[in-house]
Amino acid sequence: MPTSQFDSALLTPLPEGRKPRRDDEFLCVIDSINARGTGVGNWGEYRARIPGAVPGSTVLAQVVKRRRDRLDSRILELREASPDAVAPRCAHFESCGGCSFQGIAYARQLELMGELARRELAPVLALSGADVVEPVLGCESAWNYRNKMDFTFSNRRWVEESEPEGMDRDFALGLHSRGRYDKVLAVGRCDIQFEAGNGILMSASKLAREMDLAPWDTREHVGLLRHLVLRHGAHTGEIMVYLVTSRAGEDVTRYAEALLAAHPEITTFVHGVNDGRASVATSECESVLYGPGMICERLEELTFEISATSFFQTNTLQAERLMGVIREEAAVQSNEVLLDLYCGAGVIGLLLAKDAREVVGLEREPSSIRDAIRNAKRNGVENIRFVAGEVESVWSEDSGLPKPDICIVDPPRAGLHPKVIKTLLQLSPPRLVYVSCNLAAAARDLTPLLESGYELQRVRPVDLFPHTPHLEGVLTLVHRHPRGDD
Ligand SMILES: C[S@@+](CC[C@H](N)C(=O)[O-])C[C@H]1O[C@@H](n2cnc3c(N)ncnc32)[C@H](O)[C@@H]1O
Repeated sequence: MPTSQFDSALLTPLPEGRKPRRDDEFLCVIDSINARGTGVGNWGEYRARIPGAVPGSTVLAQVVKRRRDRLDSRILELREASPDAVAPRCAHFESCGGCSFQGIAYARQLELMGELARRELAPVLALSGADVVEPVLGCESAWNYRNKMDFTFSNRRWVEESEPEGMDRDFALGLHSRGRYDKVLAVGRCDIQFEAGNGILMSASKLAREMDLAPWDTREHVGLLRHLVLRHGAHTGEIMVYLVTSRAGEDVTRYAEALLAAHPEITTFVHGVNDGRASVATSECESVLYGPGMICERLEELTFEISATSFFQTNTLQAERLMGVIREEAAVQSNEVLLDLYCGAGVIGLLLAKDAREVVGLEREPSSIRDAIRNAKRNGVENIRFVAGEVESVWSEDSGLPKPDICIVDPPRAGLHPKVIKTLLQLSPPRLVYVSCNLAAAARDLTPLLESGYELQRVRPVDLFPHTPHLEGVLTLVHRHPRGDD
């Protein structure tokens, strides 16, 4: 709801006899935010999307592009500030785009995310006939929460408006700038990554330049340095540097040694080689230049080994609270079989195994399965096994896997494969917990389940990524007619 007191009579009327066009200026009351964290308001019947505009504010905006009833626009001037506006902490806020909610007070961010969750889940909420969405569970500490950051080297530096003239443009270590995948914003510090990461990031940039090491050129596909991934165990203090370069060589070794000498707090250094075109921090194989090649992190009473490329929740403290929510929703009993689908390194299944009779985890990444098996051994969890493969092909009615009493699914952003939905309908576990990082996909996936006997009991959103529009949702479904109950 718009909270602005701005006199609506002053709002700009639509141009007479024509549609809005590029460079048109208009006053706009920002009434909400979309799933990308962009402020949204109306100009007549057109919906204007205005990056950086805070709900509750009034801005003078300018049309950048019209697409049907949508106006991509930019702020020319803030006319009335929102009561929820706060000064962004990050010096790169305007250019980076990674933490688009930073200009909004954290308590309001949580409310806005709750509204977004309801909008995205509208089809399933309509089917269930009740608003079962609980308030978003926020973080106790909304800064320095990320235990992993992936920085990119580039020879095309994004020049920020605030920068003095004549700055060197052909080296950057940082993050892709808003909407510009060919350029990299040199990041001095990132306020959402673990604090020790900032010092390492600065040294990595300084040393690379001192040693005259060429950053990767994404157009010509030449250069040496590609990615710098920093990982941290929030409970253990262990730190991994994972450096991806286009080739191995003595210069890479010297660079690693210099970074290690400058930062004795680094507990392991892993090097990967990738000369492919795609800009991703992966490599065919990794070599360990220092330390054990992995870091340990604790969640609740278990210790997990995390290797350079394996998936692990990026906000450790909030992941523990998320696990608490999943545990409450799953309510696993000691005689029950739990299926943990898309299990990654097995975190959910391993933490719930003590409550269950048996747990089976399914995951397609062989490295994650290896981590999961190692983590089970390390923690002495014996009633769990892991199966490698794609959920849609491995898991079926006749796969020989036990019939689950409860299924937890935690798919990637794309959601569930249609075959998985079909199998879920065939097996119809009495309880189903869907952990979602994309509620729109969850709404699509859950519709056929709700139409076939399941009831959506609760949605508990958890904010693992403060200052960004991303949200994790725990959706609990129960079957109205569990097996044998006709
Ligand atoms: C959101 S992560 C969940 C990880 C895990 N539940 C956790 O909390 O650490 C999604 C996982 O699904 C895996 N994955 C993606 N597509 C898959 C598929 N078709 N079959 C099996 N696993 C898949 C990914 O490798 C990733 O580990």
